[in-house]
Amino acid sequence: MDIAKISYQLEHSGYIVLAKPLVAELLADLFRRCHDDDSSRFHAAQVGRGTGKQLSTIRGDVIDWLDEANVTDQAYLACMEKLRLGLNESLFLGLFDYESHYAIYGKGDGYAKHSDVLQGQKNRILTTVLYLNEDWHTRDGGELVVFESTGKSVVTTVSPTFGTMIIFLSESFPHEVLLSHATRRSIAGWFRVSGS
Ligand code: OGA
Ligand code: MN
Repeated sequence: MDIAKISYQLEHSGYIVLAKPLVAELLADLFRRCHDDDSSRFHAAQVGRGTGKQLSTIRGDVIDWLDEANVTDQAYLACMEKLRLGLNESLFLGLFDYESHYAIYGKGDGYAKHSDVLQGQKNRILTTVLYLNEDWHTRDGGELVVFESTGKSVVTTVSPTFGTMIIFLSESFPHEVLLSHATRRSIAGWFRVSGS
C-alpha cells in the first residue's frame, strides 16, 4: 500500500478510494473466507455495545469478526498493521488497534445512512471497507454512498467491486449501503485509539 498517498489524501480530503491495494492471492483467500456455509460463523449484525446492544433493523448483513488464529485473516491483519504504523508515523493519529469483520449482504439487504461513531464508541478514528465481489454489475446496486458531515450532499459513491478499498475518517462521513441485488461480500474495519 502506498502509505504516502493514503496519508496525503486522508489529510486533504478525509477519504481515499484505492483500486487494488492488496495482492491478488490474498484477495482470493479473503474471498474464500467470506462465505457463510459454515453456520457457526456468521451472525446478524448488532448495533451498540454492552447492555445497549440490539439486533439491527437498519442493516441486513451477517458478519463474522476476523480470527487472529486464521492464516488468511493474519495476512490481511498484517497489511493493516503496516498501514496503522505508517499512518501513525505520517499523520500522528495515535491509532492503537484495528478491529474488522467479514460482512455478507444478501439480495435485498442494505445499511441505512449512519455514522460509524456512535455513543459509547468514540474511539473509532478511521473506517476501512474492502470489497470482494467479482463481476459486479451496475444493476447489482449495493453501492456505498458517502456524504459530507452534515449528511446533505454526496461526496462519493463506490461500487463494491473486487479489491476496491475505501478508507475514511469515521467521524466525518455519514454513509449508507444501497440495496444490493446480488450477494455482496466485504471486510469492514476500524482503526481505533485506546480508551472509552
Ligand atoms: C459498516 C459499513 C459499508 C460497506 O459496516 O459500517 O458502513 O460498504 N459498511 O459495506
Ligand atoms: Mn458504516
